[in-house]
Amino acid sequence: MIAIYDSGIGGASVLMALRELAPDVDILYLADQARCPYGNRTQADIQSIALECAAWLTSQGAAPIVLACNTASAAALGALRARYPQTSFVGMVPAVKPAAQRSISGVIGIMATAATLQGELLADVTRTHAPHLKVVGQACVGLVDFVEAGDTDSVTVRAAVATHVAPLVAAGADVIVLGCTHYPFLRTAIAAAAPGVTLIDPAPAVAQQALRTAIAQGIPTAGRGRTDYYTTGDAAHVRWQIDALGLPTGIVRALVLEDHQ
Ligand code: DGL
Repeated sequence: MIAIYDSGIGGASVLMALRELAPDVDILYLADQARCPYGNRTQADIQSIALECAAWLTSQGAAPIVLACNTASAAALGALRARYPQTSFVGMVPAVKPAAQRSISGVIGIMATAATLQGELLADVTRTHAPHLKVVGQACVGLVDFVEAGDTDSVTVRAAVATHVAPLVAAGADVIVLGCTHYPFLRTAIAAAAPGVTLIDPAPAVAQQALRTAIAQGIPTAGRGRTDYYTTGDAAHVRWQIDALGLPTGIVRALVLEDHQ
């Protein structure tokens, strides 16, 4: 059983990509919605939250664990690997490399949370893959909340998205990285605000990496195609989100993490 973990429902962009690649694989999805959003928290806070979630996921025997959250990957991937050396983790890396390959203007826009933009991971991949390019980050405060509320293309969402995208377009970005797993759900609104700009969604590449890792470790990828959702928030809300966002159906359970420490 492959685990997918996010602060909320955004990791479902990776879930859908994985489901497409492997219709029969069993997936456990953890949405830490009681503490969502992570994006305005400190790196230390996100790290301790991610360690708590990983403790529960490893106790379920799920592997690999996909951190389908750029914010948690930036703050906690190293700490998780150090704490659980026997478990494989697949993290989100800001897609600067494919963006650099596709940019003609030499300016790449990154839409992400404030915490992701402050993390070392983005600075690292930028140094490695785009040292000669201009990388412009935009902290898109509020967008995660719209997706959590199932609002992906209303007039209000389009206005909020346009506010965040405008500085990137003005800076000359011809490629924008969707650096938060919630943002692919806003793709229509983002594309409308950035006509002619290439949008990069890393979810398919991460899903491929998760599947490769599972196969390499002999984890069965031909199960019953179950998707079991767990939320630290409201299970009824997740059932509603599954419907509103067109996610794979599955059983939804509420989870109190303290019970599992
Ligand atoms: N989906 C998370 C990410 O990729 C959302 C972060 C948040 O909870 O603010 O960064």
